[in-house]
Order: sequence, then C-alpha cells, then structure tokens
Amino acid sequence: MATAPTKPTNASLKKIISFYCRFTPSYSAIGFHARRLFWQRIKGDFKGQTWLVTGGSEGIGGSTARSGIAGGATVISVARDGGKLKAFATSVQGPGKLLMEVADLSLQSDIWALLDRLEAGGTRIDVLINNVGIQKRDQIMTAEGLETSFATNILGHYLLTRELLARNILTDKAMVIEVSSGGMYNHAMVVKDLNITGQGYLGVRAYGLSKRAQVMLSSCWSQKYAGTGRSFYTMHPGWVDTAAVGRSMPRFRATLKSVLRQHYQGADTIVWLADARPQQKVVGSIWFDRKERPAHIYAHTPKSTATGADLLATLESYVLPRER
Ligand SMILES: NC(=O)c1ccc[n+]([C@@H]2O[C@H](COP(=O)([O-])OP(=O)(O)OC[C@H]3O[C@@H](n4cnc5c(N)ncnc54)[C@H](OP(=O)(O)O)[C@@H]3O)[C@@H](O)[C@H]2O)c1
Repeated sequence: MATAPTKPTNASLKKIISFYCRFTPSYSAIGFHARRLFWQRIKGDFKGQTWLVTGGSEGIGGSTARSGIAGGATVISVARDGGKLKAFATSVQGPGKLLMEVADLSLQSDIWALLDRLEAGGTRIDVLINNVGIQKRDQIMTAEGLETSFATNILGHYLLTRELLARNILTDKAMVIEVSSGGMYNHAMVVKDLNITGQGYLGVRAYGLSKRAQVMLSSCWSQKYAGTGRSFYTMHPGWVDTAAVGRSMPRFRATLKSVLRQHYQGADTIVWLADARPQQKVVGSIWFDRKERPAHIYAHTPKSTATGADLLATLESYVLPRER
C-alpha cells in the first residue's frame, strides 16, 4: 500500500522557506547574472594543455570539456557510457580536441585500468577536474561492496588523483579542481560515516559528507604539495539544471526550474580557475562564482574533530588490494 506523503510541520516549513530565501538569490542563475556584471571575460587560451574531466560527457563536466576544447586544450572526457561520449564528441568544436575514456569512477578496477591506459599512452595532464558526483535516494552498493556515492564522489577520485600524482602523470604545474557542492555546508565531517551502509543510510547525508570530504582532501593535497608548482582547488557550481538534479531532486528542480543555472554557468568557476590560477588565501576554502568562500557557514560543522589525517587514513582503508 502506498503511504501518503507526510505533511510538513510548521517548524520544517519554516526551515524550508528560510533555506530557499537564503540560497536562491545566490546559488541560482540570479546570483550568476548579478555577479557577472563585475567579471572580466575569461581569456581561455588553453593551447598546449591537456585536461582530464571526469563526467565530461554532459552537464557541468560536459560544458567544462567544451570550454577547454574551445580554448585549444586536448580534453580527456571520462564517463561510463561510450555511446553518450561519442554523441558528445560530435557536438564539440575545436581548435582543441576530445579524447574519450570509458570508465566507471565508482569502481576501483576501472580506475586502475584507466590509469594504466593513460600511463601507457605517455599522457601528461595539466588540469584534472574531479567532477563526477552523484546523490542516491536509496542505498546502492557497487560491485566492489562500497556505498555508491562514497565510492564515486570521493574514494574513486582520491585513488585517481593519488595515482596520477604518484605516476607523475600530473605535470609539475598541474591543477586539480574538485567539483563539490553547497550541500556540504550542512554536514560536519564524521569519517566513520563516509561509507555509510545499513539502517542509518540517508542519501543526502552520504552525498553531503562526500562533498565535505572533497574540501578536506583538497587541503591535504595543498599541504602535501606546498612549495611545488601544483595547485589544488575546490569549487561548487551553484544550482544547475542538469540530468543529475532532475533524477535526484525532482521536486527541487520542478520548483526552481525557471531560475536554475545553465550548464555553462555552473562550469564558469571551473574554467575561470583553470584560466586565472588565482592564489588561494585560505587553505580549505571553497570557490564559488570566481571568489574564495568559507568552508563553513553553520556553527555546528567546524566542531568536527576529524582531521585531514583521519580522512586520508579512512580513504586508504577502503582502497582495495589491486587485482592484476
Ligand atoms: N547540478 C547541480 O545543481 C549541482 C549542484 C551542486 C554540485 N554539483 C556537482 O557538480 C558535479 C556535476 O554534476 P552534474 O549535475 O553536471 O551531473 P550530470 O549532469 O548528471 O553529469 C553526469 C556526468 O557524469 C558521468 N558519470 C556519472 N556517473 C559516473 C560514474 N560512476 N563514472 C564515470 N562517469 C560518470 C555521466 O556520464 P555517464 O552516465 O555516461 O557515466 C555524465 O558525463 C557533481 O559533482 C555534482 O555533485 C551539481
């Protein structure tokens, strides 16, 4: 028997209204249009560079790949569906070029195979954009036994980045850009909950924690590679009308459709970072609409005692022994 949707209480209604009042003017296209009045045009000369964009066949990743190619870069787009990648390839315009790699970021076996292909091909990457991010309503496990949004959003990208660095596939001046989400603001880091399974599963929390983990991980890389030419950023795109939003938050999309950002608007800060390579003033901040912003906006989230070392140890504990 279908259960009737629960009626929101006054308190929850108040919370919802204050959420929309606070964030809609900033995260929607309204904020983008207001801020862009003060922006310079992105020069966008990426000739000679190689970018790797995970999830680079549609949405924000697709738009990022398009901008890289339009600026002359060779862009390696990674996604699961080869057919979608091919269709995307027919729609992009040079002078740069698109290379396609089929891999599932939720599977470590696929990531190792991708790394081997890149290394065997002598690839060097100047800009790595860790873009794939998913939110599941129900708990779904990967074939490797991990919660899918954890495996995809943070663990898979951690392994990819760790190995690209270790194998020196990332150039000496490479940038790594994590595409996080404003959804991370609600969540204090609890490392033991990252791969949350069983009864306590809540898709929005699993997503928020993985997105918070991206910010922390970026700080860890920044500290580890301080003084080298490599730089690490985290950004969030605002609210963008993509397939993922339609799938994971249909009600949110239906309510805000008219003011959601277009894909290029969500990708703007990624492309701007790649172009401007700004000096980051505060380790652990997050970029949004071309500006460095704090990683915490609520009082409860900085109270977490989880450190970067805890996060790294937790991620390492989930890296499976490599099968050859
Ligand atoms: N849209 C928003 O409003 C919003 C807001 C905040 C943050 N973000 C963040 O922005 C990023 C991009 O989101 P989006 O909305 O642009 O997503 P999207 O439109 O759903 O794009 C998904 C892309 O990722 C690929 N993909 C999905 N799962 C994959 C996997 N397991 N392995 C490899 N590729 C995979 C898809 O291709 P295949 O299906 O072929 O694999 C496609 O290229 C995410 O990190 C998201 O959390 C988005």
